[in-house]
This record gives sequence, structure tokens and C-alpha cells, in this order.
Amino acid sequence: MYYIGIDLGTSSAKGILADKSGRILKEANVEYPVFYPYEGWSEQNPCDWLDAAKEILASLSDGISNEIAGVSFGGQMHGLVMLDENDNVIRPAILWNDGRSQKQTDYLNNEIGKSKLTRLTANIAFAGFTAPKILWVKENEPENFRRIAKIMLPKDYVAYMLTGVFSSDYSDASGMLLLDVENKCWSEEMCRICSVKPEWLPRLFESYEVTGKLKEEYNLPNAVVTAGAGDNAAAAVGTGTVANGSCNISLGTSGTIFISGDNFVSDPGNSLHSFAHATGRWHLMGCILSAASCNKWWIQDILQASDYSAETQNSEPLLGKNSVFFLPYLMGERSPHNDTNAKGAFIGISANTTREQMSLAVLEGVAFALRDCVESARKNGLNITSTNICGGGARSEIWKKIIANVLNVTVSSPVTEQGPSYGAAILAMVGSGAYNNVYDAVNNIVKIKSTVKPDSQTVALYDKKYEIFKSLYPALKNAFAKM
Ligand code: XUL
Repeated sequence: MYYIGIDLGTSSAKGILADKSGRILKEANVEYPVFYPYEGWSEQNPCDWLDAAKEILASLSDGISNEIAGVSFGGQMHGLVMLDENDNVIRPAILWNDGRSQKQTDYLNNEIGKSKLTRLTANIAFAGFTAPKILWVKENEPENFRRIAKIMLPKDYVAYMLTGVFSSDYSDASGMLLLDVENKCWSEEMCRICSVKPEWLPRLFESYEVTGKLKEEYNLPNAVVTAGAGDNAAAAVGTGTVANGSCNISLGTSGTIFISGDNFVSDPGNSLHSFAHATGRWHLMGCILSAASCNKWWIQDILQASDYSAETQNSEPLLGKNSVFFLPYLMGERSPHNDTNAKGAFIGISANTTREQMSLAVLEGVAFALRDCVESARKNGLNITSTNICGGGARSEIWKKIIANVLNVTVSSPVTEQGPSYGAAILAMVGSGAYNNVYDAVNNIVKIKSTVKPDSQTVALYDKKYEIFKSLYPALKNAFAKM
């Protein structure tokens, strides 16, 4: 029997077909556009996700429909999808990296108060989270708000359309700021604060639990559908990041550092998100809004080049010695600054600055921003010395070396780099009974291919650079706000 995992990313949907041993037999990728109608806005058309998912299902199951035992999903988190009473999409989805709801975020954090939000949901408000966006729609698009009959996250929209079951899972639901993360139920009080009617919200499942079957028209009669997970929790499963204290870095459009935990904890400094894990337990996570997307912007849009590795192919002697800095805040920043006004910047440029130094600075800037998140975790007493890695950026050997040295951690790459779609396939295996639980599946399937160790001299050089990096955002914060 075979299993399909589909990840609804920001730039494309990626699907894999795997067997029980975790071997990937086929892959499919369908791209779709992101719309930026105003500065700081970021939207997508939910029908594009659905079309992509249908195409992927058809391609991966071609000729073996009866042998597909399970399907599951990973998906970009926090996106607001609103349906009317006839299940029509009311407006384009407002994505995880959309910064329009700063005012509503400030209202939640300052008027309702961070301590109350943390008590109710384990988290404070960030503009990317779903709840502030709901308040934004209420305030700015009252005619749309009045039509709401259902609210859901990206992967849950696709699953609903494919199965007819209105469901979500705890990991993804954690990012709505409507879930009581510790007790795994919707927070009635948060719903009241955000004018959300409880009947608008989906039924909740663990990520590996079966929610239903695909509608007949998809011709996968033997496949069960499992709830799936937010892309970061799915990626953590896909990289084997399930043990207490284990860590995964995802270098996708966003960059995240994900720390798996057996017990519920929240970050007293509120820089890290406290969410449920797809294992049935919990995790802490720092999220930077622009990671591999910074490199894509720099290489493709600015340099108008296509060979990513060529820009830094001789840069190893420069590691820890680059005098150019880059702030990666192209879409504002989430962790730890929580500032939609933050902007990208090159700093330290002189008349002899080279293209190579600037290219390296982009990779280093992302690593320093991830270090900000790691430092928050270290402040909480977490001893992070190693991490798994996945996402498009993880294909760059030099970027992995930079991350190992900037964070002073050993970086391990799994044999299968697909992260969230692989994790979704593993969740499908557990749901359909191929394994007893996520831990069992991961222990049998996920293997490490290579590791990059930090080098103490380079770590020391980067420690000094990080001190400079840390001082840059506070120095520019007010200027950013005025730009
Ligand atoms: C996590 C987050 C991003 C998206 C990207 O909190 O916002 O990682 O899930 O798809």
C-alpha cells in the first residue's frame, strides 16, 4: 500500500507518494501565485490550493488508486480562509506573512493584555496570526465579516473541499490564537474577544487521527484522510524531530526553529510560539518571516541570476569575516521583534564591498535572525546543541555551515529532504494503521544523511559579528517605523 503527503506551501504545493518504508516513489509540484496588493499585504486564492492538490492527487495515484491507503496534509499556518453559508470563499486568504493587522495586534496585546492572551492561548498576538486578521476584517470589511459561516486554515480548506469534513488539527489550530493550547480546546473567551462564533470553527483532531475519506469523485476508495499538521509540525515529523528537546530548522519562505517538547511550556518572554506538536505533544517555535525568500529576492530579483550556489562558491574563507550585514526583514519580522514595520537593510557597505560579500551577508543575516530565536530558547534554559534541517535553503552546503557556526550547533540533514510533505505522508501512515504512533513511524523511517559540525574558531568570529547584528535592529527601529 502507498501513502500520499501534500504540503500546501506559500510558493507551491508539493506532494509525495511513499511506501511504508518511507521510500519516495513519485513527487509532484504545482506552483501558484502570491498577491501583494499593498505593501505588507500577502494573499492567495484558496481555489489555487485546491486545484493544485487535486492535480497532485491525480498525478500521484495514477494507475494505483486502489493501493493508496492514506492521504494527509501539511500547510502554511495562520492563513485566514472565510467561507459563507454556501461554502463560497468570501475573499482571498490573508496569509501568515501579511502585516496589515498591526493595529488589531496592538489592541490584543495592549488592551486585552499579553498576560490574559497567554493565559487563554499560551501565546501573545502577532500580526500573522489568524485572530488579529479576523478583527481586521470585522473593522475594515464589515460586509465580508457579516457573511462568515466558517473560518479555517489553508490545509483545512483543501481537506474540507476534498472530504466534506470540516476539521483541523491541534498543531495548526494553535496558530489561530483562538485555541487553548495546553488544554487542546477552543478558548470561548478568546472567541468572544474576537467576535468569533464557536460554530464557525472546525472540529479538532490530533494530526495523526482519521477525519474521514475522500469524496467518491477522487477515486481513492481505500484511502483514509488524517487531519495533518501545520507545515512546521509536519516538517518536524518529516525530519524526525519528535523527541523531547530535539530541534528542527526550516529554511523555506519563512525560517523557523522548532523545539519539540514532551510537556506543555510557554515562553515567559513571549518571543517563541507555544504550540501543539503533530506527535500529540507540544513544541516551542521561533519564526522569521523571510528566510530562503531573502536569497531568492537577492539572487533572482536583484542580481537577475539563476545559479544560487555560484554567488558564494568560493566564500568559505570569508566565513565569520564578512564586514557587510543584512537585516532579513523583507516582510517585517515576527520572532522576536513582532514588528510589521521592520525592513530589510544592507549595512556596512563601503567602496570596495563586493557582490560576493553581499550575497554572503544575505545568508548570514538569516542565520543571525534565527540565532535571535535560538537565544530566546536558551534564555528559557533549553540547551540547543544540534538541529535537523529542511526546506529549500537546506540544499545549500555553505548556508548549513553558516548556520552551524552562527548558532554553534551540529546541523543534520535527513536522507529525505522534503520536510512537510514527507511528514504528512508519515501522518497518513499512522492514521491508516501502518504504524502505531508517530514515534514508531519516525524511528522506522527517518534517517540522517550528513551532518555539519561547528568549528570553534569560526563560532568565535561569528559570536562577535552577532553582537553587532543584535545592535542594528534597535538602532533602526524608529527609522523603519517612519519609512
Ligand atoms: C509559522 C509560520 C510560517 C508558515 C509558513 O508560524 O508562520 O512558518 O507556516 O508556511
